[in-house]
Amino acid sequence: MNKNVIESICCIGAGYVGGPTMAVIADRCPDIKVTVVDINEKRIAAWNEDDLDKLPIYEPGLDAVIKRARGRNLFFTTSINETIASSDMVFISVNTPTKTKGLGAGEASDIRWVEASARQVAKYAKGHTIVVEKSTLPVRTAAAIRSILETPQNRNEENTSKATFSVLSNPEFLSEGTAINDLESPDRVLIGGEDLEALDSLEAIYLQWVDKDKIIRTNLWSSELSKLTANAFLAQRISSINSVSAICEATGADVREVSKAIGSDSRIGQKFLNAGPGFGGSCFQKDILNLVYLCRHFGLLNVAEYWQQVVELNTWQQHRIYRLVLQNLFGTVTGKKLAILGFAFKADTNDTRESPAIRISKDLLEEGAFLMIHDPKVSSEKIYEDLGVSKLETNNEQLFISKNVFEAVNEADAVIILTEWNEYSKLDWALIAKKMRAPGWVFDTRSVVDPEQIKLAGLNFWRVGDGVLG
Ligand code: UDX
Ligand code: ADP
Repeated sequence: MNKNVIESICCIGAGYVGGPTMAVIADRCPDIKVTVVDINEKRIAAWNEDDLDKLPIYEPGLDAVIKRARGRNLFFTTSINETIASSDMVFISVNTPTKTKGLGAGEASDIRWVEASARQVAKYAKGHTIVVEKSTLPVRTAAAIRSILETPQNRNEENTSKATFSVLSNPEFLSEGTAINDLESPDRVLIGGEDLEALDSLEAIYLQWVDKDKIIRTNLWSSELSKLTANAFLAQRISSINSVSAICEATGADVREVSKAIGSDSRIGQKFLNAGPGFGGSCFQKDILNLVYLCRHFGLLNVAEYWQQVVELNTWQQHRIYRLVLQNLFGTVTGKKLAILGFAFKADTNDTRESPAIRISKDLLEEGAFLMIHDPKVSSEKIYEDLGVSKLETNNEQLFISKNVFEAVNEADAVIILTEWNEYSKLDWALIAKKMRAPGWVFDTRSVVDPEQIKLAGLNFWRVGDGVLG
């Protein structure tokens, strides 16, 4: 085989990153056989569902891509070893959550699944295999992967002398909810590594649909660090604007006006300046904490502290929202019915990882509130799981989940909007006001509703960063 031409790809991990990324690669490169493998049988079965509404993740446009490529050159299977053996390139796209115990607990990423995947590749790969890190990883993970691959004891007997490897870093910058668009028209594709032939092979795949000037080559460590830094910068903007939202509320300024005014400076730019209930998602917090851990490891304590503050401000903002609800409802929510609109960490995804809704809901439950939660895409099971409440316990009525907004707001003392789902900007507030218990409150943490409509409906209103109304 020509070492530069990739004919078959294996992706280990059929999650939010691996699934959509491979679907788009398969769609754009019909000559490459792309097989996504996972240990989770249920997840693989869901990727193979005929009914595309039952795919394991919700992502606009994903169903159309799957429909075109699946069964043609895109496959989902649990046959991991066989797929590794028959692939020229293996992407590692498994989960890397923050460690919960041991050294670096609460900060460092747990890379045990990456390591397990590398061991499997070492054992089953045949011929020359390019291993690509896709998961977000701590800096220098590539060195660990390389060392596992190059240790003869990790190989199969028949493989020991024949298999060779190259390791590349190719971090994913896709954002959930716009993943397909981000993959089809990326701002840039970052490829890190030293082996020129391997770099050319990976670049050739992206060149099928991405302009060459958007492909950036760096060394391995720059590539790994760029991913952490990109997310840290984005998260920092959100913590910055959220800190400003509190100043706005105290001074009579309006954070939306401030965002617009500062974002018009081309050096600052308009994006990622929406104040809200705090950032969520699987990456921001995890990546910053990784950065903090890395800084501490190298004795850069001031730098570690600097980035740590971005996370702390985020946690503070989430608790702040809860305290504001409490204050406005005469200092108590015990026994009151609160409708939570939105549980996903942002709109257009069913993902709830690190969603601000989790912390805010837990705070309110702890205060004795009755929560009625609505989210158009998150399942009831996921909400129960995230709040650590078993379904049986919920018979005590502290938690009610509905797929109907009007059912969720019935007899509510307050409506708290936590996710910017488009449908929440079109609600009939006059009708909702009639269903609520007076004096009803609306807390809009995402600036999605029209304040005039709320006022006309006779409801009290609080909005993030709004020092004028309220
Ligand atoms: C992020 C990065 O954008 C992506 O490049 C990286 O690969 C993975 O992490 P994602 O977590 O999917 O993607 O979502 P993103 O759109 O970045 O939003 C993260 C969080 O910030 C959400 O909770 C969102 O609601 C919040 N956010 C975003 C704000 O509060 N205000 C904003 O202006 C933008
Ligand atoms: P991400 O957002 O990074 O894609 P997910 O948790 O959505 O993270 O997906 C990671 C996937 O990786 C999960 O479906 C999990 O079952 C899978 N996975 C983890 N370890 C392994 C492994 N050793 N082999 C195969 N799949 C794995």
